Amino acid sequence: MGFLHKVMLRVQALLRSLFFLQFLPASFLYAFKRDRNERRFASSAAPADPTAPGKLQKAAATERGAHFVFEQATLDLEFLAADLVCLTWQPGLLPVPYAIARQDWEQVQTTLKPSEAGWMLTSEALAVTVEPAGAVKLCDRNNNLLRQDDPPEWRGETWTHRTPLPQEAHIYGLGERIAGLNLRAARNAQGQPKTFSLWNTDPANISEPGQDPLYITMPVYLGLHHQGSYLTFYENSFRGEMQFGEGDAIANFSGGALRYYLAAGDPPQLLERFSELTGRAPLPPRWALGYHQSRWGYRTEATVRAEVALFQRHDLPISAVHLDIDCQVGHRSFTLDPDRFPNLCQFTHELREAGVRLVAINNPGIKHSRHSNLFLEGRVLNAFCTYPDGELVVAPVWPGQTVFPDFTNPQVRTWWSYQFAYLLDVGIAGFWNDMNEPVTFVSWGEATLPLVTQHSLEGRGGDHREAHNLYGMLESRAAYESLCQHRPERRPFIVSRSGWVGMQRYAWTWTGDTLSTWEALRLTVGTVVGLGLSGVPFSGPDIGGFLGNPSAELYVRWFQMATFLAFYRTHCSIGVDPRAPWTYGEPTLSTIRYFLRLRYQLLPYLYTLAWEAAQTGHPPVRPLFWYHSDDPQLWGIEDQFYLGEALLVCPVVQDGLRSRPVHLPQGHWYDFWSDTCWEGGKTLEIEAPLERLPLLVKAGTVLPLEAEETLTLHLYPLPQGESQSQIYSDAGEGYSPSRLDHFCLSRQDNELTLSWTASGDYPWPYQKVRLQVHGLSLQKAWVDDQEVLLQDNQVECLPFQQARLVCAAQP
Ligand code: NOJ
Repeated sequence: MGFLHKVMLRVQALLRSLFFLQFLPASFLYAFKRDRNERRFASSAAPADPTAPGKLQKAAATERGAHFVFEQATLDLEFLAADLVCLTWQPGLLPVPYAIARQDWEQVQTTLKPSEAGWMLTSEALAVTVEPAGAVKLCDRNNNLLRQDDPPEWRGETWTHRTPLPQEAHIYGLGERIAGLNLRAARNAQGQPKTFSLWNTDPANISEPGQDPLYITMPVYLGLHHQGSYLTFYENSFRGEMQFGEGDAIANFSGGALRYYLAAGDPPQLLERFSELTGRAPLPPRWALGYHQSRWGYRTEATVRAEVALFQRHDLPISAVHLDIDCQVGHRSFTLDPDRFPNLCQFTHELREAGVRLVAINNPGIKHSRHSNLFLEGRVLNAFCTYPDGELVVAPVWPGQTVFPDFTNPQVRTWWSYQFAYLLDVGIAGFWNDMNEPVTFVSWGEATLPLVTQHSLEGRGGDHREAHNLYGMLESRAAYESLCQHRPERRPFIVSRSGWVGMQRYAWTWTGDTLSTWEALRLTVGTVVGLGLSGVPFSGPDIGGFLGNPSAELYVRWFQMATFLAFYRTHCSIGVDPRAPWTYGEPTLSTIRYFLRLRYQLLPYLYTLAWEAAQTGHPPVRPLFWYHSDDPQLWGIEDQFYLGEALLVCPVVQDGLRSRPVHLPQGHWYDFWSDTCWEGGKTLEIEAPLERLPLLVKAGTVLPLEAEETLTLHLYPLPQGESQSQIYSDAGEGYSPSRLDHFCLSRQDNELTLSWTASGDYPWPYQKVRLQVHGLSLQKAWVDDQEVLLQDNQVECLPFQQARLVCAAQP
């Protein structure tokens, strides 16, 4: 980071501190009161001695598994599917199943038998051995040891779970992290294995690599080693910690039962199972995959109108503008200032005509004031969080003194969901949930609600120690359910900064308040891929970073990378220079325009990936080991990623770099820009001038690119043989019919055959089809046995059943 940049950041930090001065008295009083109440109401249990399960006394088969009785604990093993098992140690408070989407699992055949090591419970796919002192081993059907757990240990309500790790094991996931993709390689400042916290936190701004925790922490990880891969999910929302040391993985939780799920299989199978358990992201409206422009600083309708006009003037596609808190009245949720947005209804209509949607922000805190209707309504309903003696928890956030809806109460979610109705009526298309860790402004201590805050937890009761990590997800659930109910003909679009396991059922996310630095850009890939492996398929960064002013080169490189991530949005903080594609003039503008257009051309491909995510839980953005998890060379690569199966994206994350090493996985790969075809399984240095990033297309792909009414099918043939591709289409909104077009591309020497079959009721959405051959020179072509004319290695036609393309090797 340059000297000037550092000075600017200091100045910005100073300005922010001055701004925050207004909250100082309230944040002091809140912190004081919070501490007093924590002392007053916290349980005063004496430190407990460590307890282990003791000796195994009894084992009995149950309907789906087995029940084990130890001297001081019980263990239930329940197979939900042949490759997914739930293990519950008791005693301990069982979770409210917020994360769980599926309860009705089919019957699984299991067998319980005594074994040399204790008892063995087997399904068709797995064998779980329970040893006499409570150690548990998981093997696959070929007897490969996937995972072993030591007997758990309790101290009062807290417990520790140790899992010896093979030396080569790599670990991924835990929600949103910026410590690199393989969490096991992460080190703290002392060079020791990093401890990852499980406690959703707003770091105010992300100032250093490895900062932890962030907004979304999730107790789920994927383990990969020579014997295979598995996924572990601890269904426990209490504060916890995880460490992946040289010898062991250690999980600590401060309360709740030790319930965890183990799944076995390769990464795509693991995500399929995990998302079956915790839910899949619904298919988003198609516009959500376009470009979003945002800024903390658009205060008026006139500014937004002018910004959209500039997109049009510069011939740049755009799908949405996001409105931040400065569009509200006094930073209050569910408001948009009528003086500054005087014709909102007409304005949203006007924007819609131009293909642009408005997305409005909401924070969970409600102004604590008798002049706030929301406050009065919520009071009548007892909707707000309280201390154990019934007093409201009041803490400062943007609107001033605020109170916090208890989203763990179903009635409160319903009440919250009504509030969206009028904003939907005036044409707001989506919502953006911010500050929902939840955040409070504090002079010291943790910037959230007191731990003794009371929560309904669906009527079962509990406190903030258990509800904290669930808060953002349940706020998003209320928003999602609201949009389903009040606007049933359209698909909801919600973005949420915080969340927990299962949040993907309701919301997308973004990677928060990053700095405008190369380091932050570099870390984005690991964060987005890690979120995908934790079940959250749709995420992306603030393009250019949130805090600071990126150089033109940094902005361009950020844009290039984000073109291939699901959530494609420029956003930045108040107090930094306005940022949009034209900010830096030429040649930056032309490069960004090129990538924006490429993104829109790629929409049929991206939309198909979004549909696949909804069907299978597979994230569109995938790590390099996704398809070849048995190749250890791929386990540590975090500066490249797959966008679906067809594209390998290699962002440039260093200033001044004009080429970079690219690792090509097995198979054959075409350079997107030059059509050069390379054999995989090696690393190459590939050119990366500022106008482009290394982008590879997998041989065998039929890549659909759309431009207006024409769909061009780009054919990237294999050296020999057959490959399959598909395109999903529908109206892009609502729940009308859809279609799936399936392509089989086969090559025999230099002759290509493309067979096309379609299913579904949605009519083919393009006027024209083009076939563009890559890597070969097209000599003659027949579409459904009719010879067609060639132009520039292309043919133009209508939908067909079979095309035959006779080619020659390129000179
Ligand atoms: C914090 C969010 O992370 C950021 O994106 C937003 O601009 C500010 N809050 C102001 O609402």
